Amino acid sequence: NASLHQLFFLEKSSTNLIPEKFIWPKEENHNITSHEELNEPIVDLEGFFNGDKDTTRRTTELIRSACLSHGLFQVINHGVNLKLINSVHDHVKDFFKLPIDEKLRVQRVPGSFWGYSFAHADRFTLNLPWKETLSCCFHENGHDSEAAGFFKSAFGEECEHTGLIFKEYCKAMTKLSLTIIEILEMSLGVDNSYFKEIFKDGSSIMRCNFYPPCQEPGLALGTGPHCDPTALTILHQDQVGGLQVLSDGKWKSVRPRHGALVVNLGDTLEALSNGVYKSCPHRAIVNKSMERISLVFFFCPSEDKVIVPPENLVTTERPRLYPDFKWSDFLQFTQKYYRVDVSTLLNFT
Ligand code: SIN
Ligand code: FE2
Repeated sequence: NASLHQLFFLEKSSTNLIPEKFIWPKEENHNITSHEELNEPIVDLEGFFNGDKDTTRRTTELIRSACLSHGLFQVINHGVNLKLINSVHDHVKDFFKLPIDEKLRVQRVPGSFWGYSFAHADRFTLNLPWKETLSCCFHENGHDSEAAGFFKSAFGEECEHTGLIFKEYCKAMTKLSLTIIEILEMSLGVDNSYFKEIFKDGSSIMRCNFYPPCQEPGLALGTGPHCDPTALTILHQDQVGGLQVLSDGKWKSVRPRHGALVVNLGDTLEALSNGVYKSCPHRAIVNKSMERISLVFFFCPSEDKVIVPPENLVTTERPRLYPDFKWSDFLQFTQKYYRVDVSTLLNFT
């Protein structure tokens, strides 16, 4: 039942080193033992949901301050049922505990956003992340059968339920994403719905990360340093911790908080705000003794919408920073730099 990473480790244990491809260069892995925490705002959304004007103004200001500096905040009272979140965690955990050959039955093929993958390279690097992932797509008007059918065809009738839970979770994430987009619009003085229009009919991506314990946490990385290409990411992490943000030139930890969801901005939102708001540089570290799971929902624009900042964010002092682009083209571009051929990894064995 051992994960692939553990098998690799067993292979190499006599040298007491993890395979070379999992060893990251010092520049990317520096400061791994830093215990400094990011002082991100914890935003309570209850007042906003209740329509309370004063609280909404304060909420908007808090979010604006985070987005101007590093692009990450946490939300509480976000309206997503905690039982649903826990249920997704349980299903994801069960999946990753399956024997490796079962998991490989749904191996993600290059160019696809569906399925299981271990150690595909992150953008801008050839080093391998110390993690396994399970991904699926979500479209608001998509068929119920999409996620459910994926699990059912791979693992039989009893797994159809897992797919339905994934779908419910993605629905809740989409709803919350739209709420956050609305607050971002207010915080930038953007006409109501200018951003929202861009996401109408979009297809989002859900990725579950499983980070096994690592004997050499100071050499490996769970997820390498990167910014998300999407607009908005909503992440739920368990209580182990490992997510870090680059802020003021230092890697700082995002402390897990019970019931909270982590929100970070991606490149597309930076472009939509004409660079006023920052795409958040982040990574995930691993540790020696505990496995960690994170659920990541990438909120994506509609494929064909052109990403253009609204007029009020383009001025003579702040000219256009990025050219127009379509999300589908940008996504394809990032994919080219995301992946190495899995077969190169298999050469380890
Ligand atoms: C990611 O950025 O893709 C994952 C971060 C995490 O697992 O905390
Ligand atoms: Fe990310």
